[in-house]
Amino acid sequence: MRILAISGSLRSGSSNTNLLLAAARLVPAGVEMQLYGGLGELPPFNPDVESAGVPIAAVDEFRARLAGADAVAICSPEYAHGVPGVLKNALDWVVGSGELVDKPLALINASPRSEYAYAQLTEILTVMSAKLIPGACINASLMGRKTLDVDGIVADAELSVALRGAMAALVEGATGPRPESTS
Ligand code: FNR
Repeated sequence: MRILAISGSLRSGSSNTNLLLAAARLVPAGVEMQLYGGLGELPPFNPDVESAGVPIAAVDEFRARLAGADAVAICSPEYAHGVPGVLKNALDWVVGSGELVDKPLALINASPRSEYAYAQLTEILTVMSAKLIPGACINASLMGRKTLDVDGIVADAELSVALRGAMAALVEGATGPRPESTS
């Protein structure tokens, strides 16, 4: 089972990216979670270019990575009360091609202040027919934490429990509930 992680921040040392990298260490056994690193290489979305059918390597790769994933996890900052342009641009590239339709999805919010972007992403992904998994859509606030690097997040008891639970819920949303224990 494969999860594709998408951070809405291109910043090196991004706290949102670190949260996803920490989540990748907390997935259930047998689950592989990889970070998509091509957000900055996607060209600006243009329906004319899309309908011309000219292949664009970065777009084809993004679509293939999404298609090959059993589930997706998104964590994004908020810029000016909105979704970062690079993330919205990436999502626009798959509105028509449909790779997110019925895709089990986790939406993780790293800041309680970023309520606008989180609400907008919920709406955008819902209208794109992604399958937002309630238990995997969580606030994992990094505010006031001592360290925001990956090790620090994994070592933080509260954050690691929240991320582990969200990833377990995402996997269950993608594969169905685990069978009851017979013991
Ligand atoms: C921000 N930030 C921000 N935060 C917020 O809660 N609401 C907002 O409207 C904005 N607007 C905003 C605009 C711009 C241009 C920048 C650079 C930043 C703060 C930002 O979301 C916060 O620093 C995130 O933690 C950055 O995420 P990464 O890059 O660490 O993942």
